[in-house]
Amino acid sequence: AETHYHQFIVGAMPVTRLCRTHNIISVNGQFPGPTITVRNGDSLVVRVLNRAQYNVTIHWHGIRQMRTPWADGPEYVTQCPIQPGATYTYRFKIENQEGTLWWHAHSRWLRATVYGALIILPKPGSSFPFSKPMLDVNIMIGEWWNRNVLDVMRQALFTGAAPNVSDAYTINGQPGDLYRCSRQGTFKVSVTPGETVLLRVINAALNQELFFTVANHRLTVVGNDAAYAKPFTTRVIMVGPGQTTNVLLTADQRPGRYYMAARAYQTAQNAGFDNTTTTAILEYRNSRTRSSTRAVFPTLPSFNDTATVTAFTRQMRSNPAFGKVPTSVDENLFFTVGLGFFNCPPGPRCQGPNNTRFSASMNNVSFVLPRRTSLLQAYYNKIPGVFTTDFPPVPPVQFDYTGNVSRALWQPRRGTKLYKIKFGSRVQIVLQDTAIGTTEDHPIHLHGYHFFVVAQGFGNFNPRTDTGKFNLVDPPVRNTINVPIGGWSVIRFIADNPGVWLMHCHIDSHLTWGLGMAFVVENGNGKSQSVEPPPADLPPC
Ligand code: C2O
Repeated sequence: AETHYHQFIVGAMPVTRLCRTHNIISVNGQFPGPTITVRNGDSLVVRVLNRAQYNVTIHWHGIRQMRTPWADGPEYVTQCPIQPGATYTYRFKIENQEGTLWWHAHSRWLRATVYGALIILPKPGSSFPFSKPMLDVNIMIGEWWNRNVLDVMRQALFTGAAPNVSDAYTINGQPGDLYRCSRQGTFKVSVTPGETVLLRVINAALNQELFFTVANHRLTVVGNDAAYAKPFTTRVIMVGPGQTTNVLLTADQRPGRYYMAARAYQTAQNAGFDNTTTTAILEYRNSRTRSSTRAVFPTLPSFNDTATVTAFTRQMRSNPAFGKVPTSVDENLFFTVGLGFFNCPPGPRCQGPNNTRFSASMNNVSFVLPRRTSLLQAYYNKIPGVFTTDFPPVPPVQFDYTGNVSRALWQPRRGTKLYKIKFGSRVQIVLQDTAIGTTEDHPIHLHGYHFFVVAQGFGNFNPRTDTGKFNLVDPPVRNTINVPIGGWSVIRFIADNPGVWLMHCHIDSHLTWGLGMAFVVENGNGKSQSVEPPPADLPPC
């Protein structure tokens, strides 16, 4: 195993998109930021130097961080932010993970432009469970704003209204030629007829689930997040923010040019969204294909096509040999996920529906981050008064989660509540979407773990009838799971990684409004089951 050393210099740089230039925050003057490639079993040392005028942290999305929660990155959860001019070095090992992950800022909405791919190749001497593709290409899909993203965030926080939608989607930082002034930069993949490409599709968008497809070509899904999948073929994939999907594409069509395209999967009928399409080009290397050859455009599902998403998700299975699904559970948790509203006196801060402000919650707790220290430091150093451990294991009020919910249930309570789990517990969480405010998908991400997705469905989860339908044989393994519109997802994992771990909706506007909570996983026996001591350069608050 190798140790890879990197330096990340976070700073402002001017970028021109959609005919306009403005400063964005990025890493090493690149947008998207640098790709990190490692092998399973390697270690990473990344020194982050903050040259921006904002606080920042970096999160290694999907990396388990076994016993090294100090390197996980969410601000005020596992560390205080790296202040302007300061540095912090993230040190961690990659243990039993292979596939496509990514890294991103975990400080307010800076991840809109501070992100890059993190590729984990098989251990030396082992190989993919499919024949090695000729090309290996990252497709990072993002959202672009013509404004400073922190202003977009502040507007949503200050007014209590939904945030402005983005001005474009991007593939590898480029909107693609359907947008103004964007033809030049459009991302291209050149293929030789007959060869197979591995496309690593990463949804780095702030607030949007996305469809992705390639004109005329079939996509064979071979991985999700950092786990291999049992291969299946599809025309279109749906990727939620935070998720990655690896697909193989064989250049088996008439030589020419084909669009790859991504656009919104937007389930909330009453929410505004960016209805535009980002594109890249798949170009056959062939004497008759010229850059002027007209590219074939794909058919994309309509923006609210839940049937296509459900059909796609139902086919997902993990590759065997991943590890066993717990067949019984010690912690049986039921968390509602959804939006809600805070009442507020009419005024500029109350631009949500009917003079309210948007909020969001799990089990009616709207999550608030501490400010004077991080949750992990408070836990490790036993600092009182920073958090409580009374996060409810089931909703305080049970109701028809998908029905017409009474207004009295709309108001969550703010809190910094954690849920404590014993080391080694077998945990099941039912994540139930609620119809409060607006029904929509919520991509829920758990830090420090990947988990088995044993079931998903629509309506209210019913333990009597739904438990029998669980897949305990080969369920998909992920770090971010979509809770479908008006439905539920059930995940299982073994709490073998001590620390403080955030779980939250990876739609940043929802997280900003409080859609999150955190687990404390207690130490087990001895060093190998305990959180390592904090690094000496851990940033102060
Ligand atoms: Cu990808 Cu908590 O984040």
